[in-house]
Amino acid sequence: MATFKTSSFLKYDDYMTPKYAWENIKDYIPTDKIIWEAFMGDGKSGEYLKDLGFDVIHNDNDFFESNEGDVIVSNPPFSKAKEILMRLKELDKPFILILPSSKINTQYFRLFKNEIQLIIPKKRIHFEKQINGEKPEGWRNACNFDCFYYCYKMDLKKDIIWLD
Ligand SMILES: C[S@@+](CC[C@H](N)C(=O)[O-])C[C@H]1O[C@@H](n2cnc3c(N)ncnc32)[C@H](O)[C@@H]1O
Repeated sequence: MATFKTSSFLKYDDYMTPKYAWENIKDYIPTDKIIWEAFMGDGKSGEYLKDLGFDVIHNDNDFFESNEGDVIVSNPPFSKAKEILMRLKELDKPFILILPSSKINTQYFRLFKNEIQLIIPKKRIHFEKQINGEKPEGWRNACNFDCFYYCYKMDLKKDIIWLD
């Protein structure tokens, strides 16, 4: 049976978060909560969040079988966005998720109608692509899509925050 560790998932979902993507929003991540970076990738994302001073759980357990920490801060596998958001709604888990801006138009995001707050990065986030744990030859970290930080139950002062 395919699992999230198999190569097909790795091929399509392994876009690693650069450190600046978490630095961008460090002022909006709570310091008094335990952060669950729920999607492991190469493990660096959790390290970056720890480096920024947060208390972070970051392991390679199956997200759908787990419920850890107080707030999810992660860049999830985009191909499973629907299932992930349905699970988060079921858990009523606060989150900050990096996802493509186009996801706002999906039907499943309507699960959170009037409850989502957005942080909009000033510049496009360029993820590091990996295939089976390796950066593909010739990959230039030049993404062709934009993302938002989608926030749920984060009590931001504004519903849309434009980062400077
Ligand atoms: C877009 S990558 C980002 C990794 C890391 N969160 C980061 O920000 O650098 C998403 C990762 O989720 C992992 N993944 C896919 N399905 C998963 C599941 N059911 N449970 C936990 N991790 C999963 C994939 O292996 C992939 O590396």
